[in-house]
Amino acid sequence: MIVTANAKINVTLDITGIRDDGFHTLRSVMVPITLSDELSLEQNDRLTFECNIASLCTDDNLCIRAAKAFFDAIGQSPCVSIRLTKRIPFPAGLGGGSSDAAAVLKGLNRLYSNPLSDEKLFSIAATLGSDVPFCLLDKPALCEGRGEILAPLDGLKSMHVVIAIGDGRLSTPAVYREYDANNLPVRDDTDRLLSAIGSDDIYAVASTFGNAFEPVTDILCPETAALRSLLINNGAITAHLSGSGPSVYGIFADAETASNAAKTIQNVGFSAFVCKTVD
Ligand code: C5P
Repeated sequence: MIVTANAKINVTLDITGIRDDGFHTLRSVMVPITLSDELSLEQNDRLTFECNIASLCTDDNLCIRAAKAFFDAIGQSPCVSIRLTKRIPFPAGLGGGSSDAAAVLKGLNRLYSNPLSDEKLFSIAATLGSDVPFCLLDKPALCEGRGEILAPLDGLKSMHVVIAIGDGRLSTPAVYREYDANNLPVRDDTDRLLSAIGSDDIYAVASTFGNAFEPVTDILCPETAALRSLLINNGAITAHLSGSGPSVYGIFADAETASNAAKTIQNVGFSAFVCKTVD
């Protein structure tokens, strides 16, 4: 069985507080994009995992943890061959690992004729990571709590996107820590987007996009700020960090401008991927 695992972007990401367990509460509109990994799942007498990227073939890969959690929940010992073809850059803030884990849960449930309810799958997903439930949903959604409380959103039309990423790295816990240290005001991008959704004016909708981490990540990894400027200077309507970075996304009015921008960014020596948001 072949399962596709879409990446995601956070078109808004507002941090609303911090919980006793150290996790932050957020309000974020997340959207799947057509940049994806592919997983092949086949029944086997034991659990095996292969990946086209050798450094990802570790025992704690989220795909393995997802498979173990699935078999645990159905009361069987893990017995599946997983082959992952990785195309989503990582670590990037694009939810690639989370999406792979969600695809394993979804695929295994199908392979075994749906022994687990959606509710059970979502609760397993939340134990694997904050973004895994969203990746399981695979539709635009308002994400709250630590990211796992989902409200699907209609009316966010498909948009042309360029994902750009350089060589700089950002650690998610470090970005949250630095955000806390800076005492930044809470942003209202998500509320403004929720009011604009449904409008045919892509400029009005995209003007609400934003990411609360940018004042921090622009300093921790200046390349992310440079990439946002590069996207804007090459025709993006807006450009922001995705998740805790270091990838950035640009929104474009048409495919040709997006493709030209991606080529320019590649010519400067960065990685760039043209894709669309999933509506
Ligand atoms: O859940 P996930 O594995 O994505 O979280 C990675 C790290 O990011 C956490 O250990 C925590 O430091 C930070 N985080 C957070 N609040 C969230 C999500 C992640 O503080 N809502």
